[in-house]
Amino acid sequence: MCGIVGIVSKKNVVEKIYSSLTRLEYRGYDSAGIAVVAGGIDRRRVEGKLSNLHAELKKKPLKGTVGIGHTRWATHGLPVTKNAHPHSTKRVSVVHNGIIENFSELRHELERKGYKFTSQTDTEVIPILITYYLDEGEKPFKAFQKTLGRLEGAFAIGAIFADDPKLLMAARKGSPLAIGYGKDEMYLASDAIALAPLSQKISYLEDDDYAKISINSCEIFDKSGKKVERIVKNSGISGGAVEKGHFKHFMLKEIHEQPTTIAETLTAYYDPVHHKINLPKAKFDITKTRRINIVACGTSYYSGMIGKYWIEQLAGIPVEVDIASEFRYRKPVFERGGLTLLISQSGETADTLAALKHAKENKQHIVSIVNVQQSSIARESDIIIPTLAGPEIGVASTKAFSAQLTCFAVLAIALAKNPPGLLQQLVDTPSIIAEVLHNDCYEEIADILAKAQSVIYIGRGTSYPIALEGALKLKEISYIHAEGIGAGELKHGPIALIDKKVPVVVIAPGDEYFTKTASNVREVAARGGKVILISDKKGCKDLKDVTYRAIEMPNVPSFITPLVYSVPEQLLAYYTALAKGADIDQPRNLAKSVTVE
Ligand code: F6R
Repeated sequence: MCGIVGIVSKKNVVEKIYSSLTRLEYRGYDSAGIAVVAGGIDRRRVEGKLSNLHAELKKKPLKGTVGIGHTRWATHGLPVTKNAHPHSTKRVSVVHNGIIENFSELRHELERKGYKFTSQTDTEVIPILITYYLDEGEKPFKAFQKTLGRLEGAFAIGAIFADDPKLLMAARKGSPLAIGYGKDEMYLASDAIALAPLSQKISYLEDDDYAKISINSCEIFDKSGKKVERIVKNSGISGGAVEKGHFKHFMLKEIHEQPTTIAETLTAYYDPVHHKINLPKAKFDITKTRRINIVACGTSYYSGMIGKYWIEQLAGIPVEVDIASEFRYRKPVFERGGLTLLISQSGETADTLAALKHAKENKQHIVSIVNVQQSSIARESDIIIPTLAGPEIGVASTKAFSAQLTCFAVLAIALAKNPPGLLQQLVDTPSIIAEVLHNDCYEEIADILAKAQSVIYIGRGTSYPIALEGALKLKEISYIHAEGIGAGELKHGPIALIDKKVPVVVIAPGDEYFTKTASNVREVAARGGKVILISDKKGCKDLKDVTYRAIEMPNVPSFITPLVYSVPEQLLAYYTALAKGADIDQPRNLAKSVTVE
């Protein structure tokens, strides 16, 4: 959460900082700001989105050859201008991502020394503590170093100094930070995506590293203060990967990319010559696993639920699935040498990372399905099974979800020792999804959903997690209340909600559960509920008399239905939010990378 950028150059850096921030806005958009050294510290800060900062910079231009920028997802303090970053004193300005856990103690200490605070944030203790050390006579580097020694929590920090217009300092503890190498220009950002058009030469700070960055160099130090080298790699992210192209929103673009991203993910593991799956090499034999704990949040958690169904059904290995924010608190019983599998698009989700650490402390093998291969979760894992979805910018996860499902399908097939037939079904999936994308019924049905106050999604078997995911997609971008319910569970309470105003989206592929789900559909219709049926040709025909609207799907084998049936849900959510005029790529209160617990 929160995006930070820093640039030190021979030229004015403000425009480049602004444009890098636009590629980080998915991390938070409660407020934004930029600071530079121009004589002293000069800054512009605004409430709300980056577009407001753009307007402010037009009114009151800013110029400097070293600067930092920030786009905020509020934790401590309201999303108002006084809490917007950069936080500054006359001598230093700081941007920060993360939480300073001992801020209250530090604030009291600094207030007792006579320093004044102007915000409600935890961040402000950083520039004031640095200023205290500067006032004590330390040079900027030493003042920064001493300050780091006092901070507790997880953070990524960038700082500039009034006394040294050629210096950019950075530090990482828990929250990611990338350094970009340019010509007579150096960069700093929360991730390589922000820097894609500026530099592909990237190194990542490791935990507890801090860096002294100037126009042509970057010196990195570890926790003990020893100078260290961190590999400079090619990020491989082109500027174009973070553009919308001809699509109106990133979310729509990413939904349409799924045939490609599923195929690319599958290709990484599929050996077409021997028609089998090759999993990434590990120090232990993953196929000997006797029990698996799957842990994740949100959409990634729903992919984990489907993973459970597949692994148990195909490989007969018992699987437990937990939401990461509860995993530690239920104190799970671990089996010696067991396996914990984390799923995360960003690879930075704080709850998932904490669950990983808990499993590690309990001597579990750690496997992760991640989209960002340089992320903290990837780095802490014994094996990663990467999803090759490419950068996902829309806050609502779509192509990362289907890539996670692809990884789970691949894993289940490998654990089940490559049972015949299933691989071919996976290979066929991208072209089936391409067909589903071209159905033209979504907008008309979305107009119906857009008028509802509450929408219910039901499904059975692997369609149950798909119902949960459909409801999450709808609520997070359209702000309509939505609930996913196991079709059989409806009559145990939730059916009381049904009346003629409540659309019920039914995920009913023609699998072994169809007949039972069909009975639940009739129960809904009997209570006046508006049934929006997603089923194949036969299903749509069988339930025609009780259906308000139908989305006819191609006939697909039951194994791949989660991959195929999640697509109409994504499009329904998208067009419903569009009909409501909602901010689709940046829904209120959310951020793409959730680095606080
Ligand atoms: C919903 C969504 C979230 C994420 C969740 C976990 O569309 O994107 O529910 O799935 O915040 O994020 P990652 O996968 O990055 O750990």
